[in-house]
Amino acid sequence: MTSNNRANFGSKLGVILASAGSAVGLGNIWRFPYETGEHGGAAFILIYLCCVLFMGIPIMSAEFLIGRRSRANTARAYQVLAPKTQWKWVGRMGVLCGFLILGYYSVVAGWTLEFIGEAATNSFAGKTAADFIASFNGFVGNPWRPLIWLVVFMMATHLIVVRGVEKGIEKASKIMMPMLFLLLILLAICSLTLPGSGAGIEFLFKPDFSKIDAGAFLAAMGQAFFSLSLGMGCLCTYASYFKNDTNLPKTALNVGIIDTSVAILAGIIIFPAAFAVGIQPDAGPSLLFITLPNVFQQAFGNIPFLAITLSIMFYVLLALAALTSTISLHEVVTAYLHEEFKMTRRKAAWIVTILCTLLGVISSFSLGIWKEYTIFGLTFFDAFDYVTAKLMMPIGGMLIAIFVGWYLDKKIVWEEISNQGSLKPAIFKLLVFLLKYFSPIAIGVIFINELGLLK
Ligand code: PHE
Repeated sequence: MTSNNRANFGSKLGVILASAGSAVGLGNIWRFPYETGEHGGAAFILIYLCCVLFMGIPIMSAEFLIGRRSRANTARAYQVLAPKTQWKWVGRMGVLCGFLILGYYSVVAGWTLEFIGEAATNSFAGKTAADFIASFNGFVGNPWRPLIWLVVFMMATHLIVVRGVEKGIEKASKIMMPMLFLLLILLAICSLTLPGSGAGIEFLFKPDFSKIDAGAFLAAMGQAFFSLSLGMGCLCTYASYFKNDTNLPKTALNVGIIDTSVAILAGIIIFPAAFAVGIQPDAGPSLLFITLPNVFQQAFGNIPFLAITLSIMFYVLLALAALTSTISLHEVVTAYLHEEFKMTRRKAAWIVTILCTLLGVISSFSLGIWKEYTIFGLTFFDAFDYVTAKLMMPIGGMLIAIFVGWYLDKKIVWEEISNQGSLKPAIFKLLVFLLKYFSPIAIGVIFINELGLLK
């Protein structure tokens, strides 16, 4: 099935790390802790883990299958596998979803650059928890500063995408992912040793189901899709560069494990520290940017060299983790415009960069000077997040599960998933069952539950 002119990832490790590079990003280190904080901690995490295991990994395998079998961008993929049907809309919705995510994700990605600067100039020194809150709010509310970083971040993404990403992504991921992991473990240890951190651990690991409502189910499912980059064609696009002997379910499992470990580690860093310094865990999107500087300050304040080095390293790695995700988002839209509208790759990339930057300006303003403009009570920033993570990605995932579980010829599914027979039939049956019945029904039930129709 490999056509000669399509690039491939070089090694199995490269495949896993590049996919994990797309998956691991702000979703794990920024979004997971604040969603967990807003929905009461451990019980939310349990639901999240079930979503990853029973929906996320099967749907990721399905996306891999679609991408590798079709060897095309995500919109074209459905035209290859299901010619002359409406399935192409699943791919097109994914492209739109990628565009919308990039429009607010890049704003937060830009914040990481501001924080690299703050870390480097030692401006966390001597600040109290209240100072961190005030200075974060001042920064986000400022109309111009976040925009500068937004543009810088979008340009960095643009330059990499224009040059073509296969070698770049693979190489960068191989170096960055292990470094990120090590640093996270180090920070987790620091956070755990802060006095008063026990309450944070309890919050993370002792489930209190009284805090679970319909919104928590939707949030956990949305977080699983967002964090795994699922339901919008990102991993489908990457899989079109996989080799024929890549084991798809095993890769999905590995990516799921890496992604989840990073999220849990981020939780172990944030919550013990938040409780130790008396910050509420439900602070929302600002949680990471207020708590973490405080951790660095509290833990290493009296050894400035260490405080500066560790905090610079952390924000640099956070920025790079975000970059491997923005590249994968940008790539989905660029590949689509380039291949479907017959424009050059460079022109397609410019269109995506400019439109996403404009969307980013709207998202960024909506946290400051445009705070009062809302859609259904949500700022533009929150609305983009809600529509993509809680609606488009799960709906996309449901349709992908139905496409592979019901529509595609079983022979194709078996060939791709089993690598011509190297997978145990029992695991194959389980996977097909999860795709055919469990995922679509569970996603449907969570939506109906959210609408309040189950009461
Ligand atoms: N999974 C990425 C993260 O956790 C975000 C992302 C979503 C990237 C969708 C690509 C596609 O940060």
